[in-house]
Amino acid sequence: MRAVAYDSFGDASVLTVRELPVPRPGRGEVQVRVTMASLNPVDFKLRSGILRMVGRPRRPAITGKDFAGVITALGADVQGYAVGQRVFGSVDPMGGQGSCAQFVALATDLIAATPDALSDEVAASLPVAAGSALQCLTDVAGLGKDQTILITGASGAVGSAAVQIARSIGAHITGVCGTANTDYVGSIGAERVIDYQTDNWPKIDQQFDVILDAAAAASFFIARPRLLPTGIYINTMPRPELFWSAMVARLSSRQRCVPFLLKTNGALLRQLAQLAADGVIVPHIRETVGLAQVAAAQQRMQGGKTHGKVCVRVDD
Ligand SMILES: NC(=O)c1ccc[n+]([C@@H]2O[C@H](COP(=O)([O-])OP(=O)(O)OC[C@H]3O[C@@H](n4cnc5c(N)ncnc54)[C@H](OP(=O)(O)O)[C@@H]3O)[C@@H](O)[C@H]2O)c1
Repeated sequence: MRAVAYDSFGDASVLTVRELPVPRPGRGEVQVRVTMASLNPVDFKLRSGILRMVGRPRRPAITGKDFAGVITALGADVQGYAVGQRVFGSVDPMGGQGSCAQFVALATDLIAATPDALSDEVAASLPVAAGSALQCLTDVAGLGKDQTILITGASGAVGSAAVQIARSIGAHITGVCGTANTDYVGSIGAERVIDYQTDNWPKIDQQFDVILDAAAAASFFIARPRLLPTGIYINTMPRPELFWSAMVARLSSRQRCVPFLLKTNGALLRQLAQLAADGVIVPHIRETVGLAQVAAAQQRMQGGKTHGKVCVRVDD
């Protein structure tokens, strides 16, 4: 099968399109012919080696986690899925598999059925970005109707999904984004939009129940004055100082600091499918490229030149 793979950490030039063996489904797994993948910042972070302390993908490593496609084979003991069924999901990249490939084989807890109403482009855009937004707002923050939330990176893949989910919950949303995207962030549900290029959100005259730092551009101590006494700060880039901040917050206040790490599972994916089918989540898809353009697309993402979802058409 054709796949976009790398043998060593490095910049986007280590990625090549090459022939690799088709993965076979093991017990409790399905094999999926991938039609569409989508890229996330974690893909270039894994490829560049900055996450090597967290884990090293087996080589040759295939880039990409998120995908949509069609089941082509079932492993032993698989129930509830059939060959020919449309599914979407997210690969664990540590085992040497990735979504920028013609086939993946993975456990059924990492996939869900694609609703008829959703294109593969939309389905492939959901797992990491919208999944993080949903897990942050529901499982971590328990965001409720009429609560106040500030979302940084509100024009990006995680942040825009968070704005849309928070709107459906009935929260009052302040979104932070760059100048070019203020109208977009207002249009998806933010009541107040702050341009980080001309304004400084930690200095505004408001406190929030939840601050979701999806851009991971601040810290608990920068955000703390903008939190209510029982407020929660969530940062999407776990770093050692955030775990320290979490301990300080717990010992000194009723506030919380949460270094977030996504845990994908079938229930989360089914919720995302429903929210997208209901029109609550509409992913911010910036561009769709072919396998041969994945390296250039990752380079643009890593250089901060593209935010939002980049989809990859795999069956060209
Ligand atoms: N821990 C986890 O499990 C997990 C899961 C998913 C994602 N993440 C992380 O979450 C982050 C966001 O992911 P994403 O897919 O949403 O990325 P993305 O689509 O590239 O979005 C990035 C966002 O950050 C904004 N931004 C850029 N520079 C900024 C600055 N200096 N101050 C404030 N905002 C700034 C951008 O705004 P403009 O485009 O308007 O300029 C954009 O809205 C990434 O670091 C990713 O690795 C972590």
